Amino acid sequence: MALPNNDIGDETRQVLAAQAHIWNHIFNYINSMSLKCAIQLEIPDIIHSHGRPMNLSDLVEALPINNNHDKAKTHDCVYRLMRILVHAGFFIQLAEEGYLLAPTSRLLLKDETMSMIPFLNLQLDPNSMDPWHSLSKWLNNASDDSNSTPYATVHGMPLFKYAENEPRFNHIFNEAMASDARLVMSVLIQNGKGLIFEGLKSLVDVGGGTGTVAKAIADAFPQINCTVFELPHVIEGLEGSKNLNFVGGDMFNSIPSANAILLKWILHDWSDEDCIKILKKCKEAIPSKENGGKVILIEIVMDQNKDDKSYVTQLFLDMLMMVNATGKERSEQEWAKLFVDAGFSDYNIKIGD
Ligand SMILES: C[S@@+](CC[C@H](N)C(=O)[O-])C[C@H]1O[C@@H](n2cnc3c(N)ncnc32)[C@H](O)[C@@H]1O
Repeated sequence: MALPNNDIGDETRQVLAAQAHIWNHIFNYINSMSLKCAIQLEIPDIIHSHGRPMNLSDLVEALPINNNHDKAKTHDCVYRLMRILVHAGFFIQLAEEGYLLAPTSRLLLKDETMSMIPFLNLQLDPNSMDPWHSLSKWLNNASDDSNSTPYATVHGMPLFKYAENEPRFNHIFNEAMASDARLVMSVLIQNGKGLIFEGLKSLVDVGGGTGTVAKAIADAFPQINCTVFELPHVIEGLEGSKNLNFVGGDMFNSIPSANAILLKWILHDWSDEDCIKILKKCKEAIPSKENGGKVILIEIVMDQNKDDKSYVTQLFLDMLMMVNATGKERSEQEWAKLFVDAGFSDYNIKIGD
């Protein structure tokens, strides 16, 4: 409720500001769910294909929905859905002409190489969201089992085991990882950060999903023999090429030898103890530093700049690791300690732009 500003005292103003702040946090899921609805209705693609601003009636006509509903009601609901998404910055509304895609929404198109739709489909799937309802219960029942997670508590097994047993979840998980990998690799290679791979003869991408990262490296550096080392259910049926191959296995047992090991978004899934085990296996798989051996991590470094817009994303991902896995996002000090504890003498951090 809005009251005229000059009619209220400081204390009331603070209470109302606090109420608005809390309301906006309580209702944050409405932002995610409205976006999910727009993706399911393919609104970004429809507006994009229209090729010019699209008015509400044309948009409603083009939606893949059955028109059994009351037409006026559908118009009203789509108008209100679009209003919140315009406010969130996903679309631009031109007064007379209608809706346009905002620049951000390029990443919400189905056929865009860097599309984030698969990531949205994973994170906003009920399977991924259910464990959040049990976070406090899980904390309350904290057990001695260091492998316990809210995800495993709700789904009866850890996430990677669940993916092994549930083809639908395995598919949406792998697609989500591949979509992030496409975006990261395109940014890395376009910005010259791919130089880190230059001069290598062989590379193993441990936990490399369905091979998006390794394929990008294999294509950009034909002299590097790339191997995706993954759990068998992830790479089942995938075929390699001249300088790319797929090997099934468990990184806690052993890792195939190479000049370099790549770990993208692996260690953040695991506890410090497990990270040390994985890093030790990596160390066994590479030559000495003097002979060119290296382990390359693509991960978040927390707390670099708390004013940066990406800090909130880091906080979200850290909580995600608490709910879905036994890992965390780490600061430079925490990374450095892991490297030392795993027996590495040196590290070098390159911050992405
Ligand atoms: C967060 S995903 C990252 C995937 C990929 N590196 C990327 O960033 O797109 C973690 C990956 O680790 C794999 N993984 C989990 N446990 C593993 C194990 N014991 N050995 C090998 N891979 C494993 C999972 O199957 C999953 O694909």
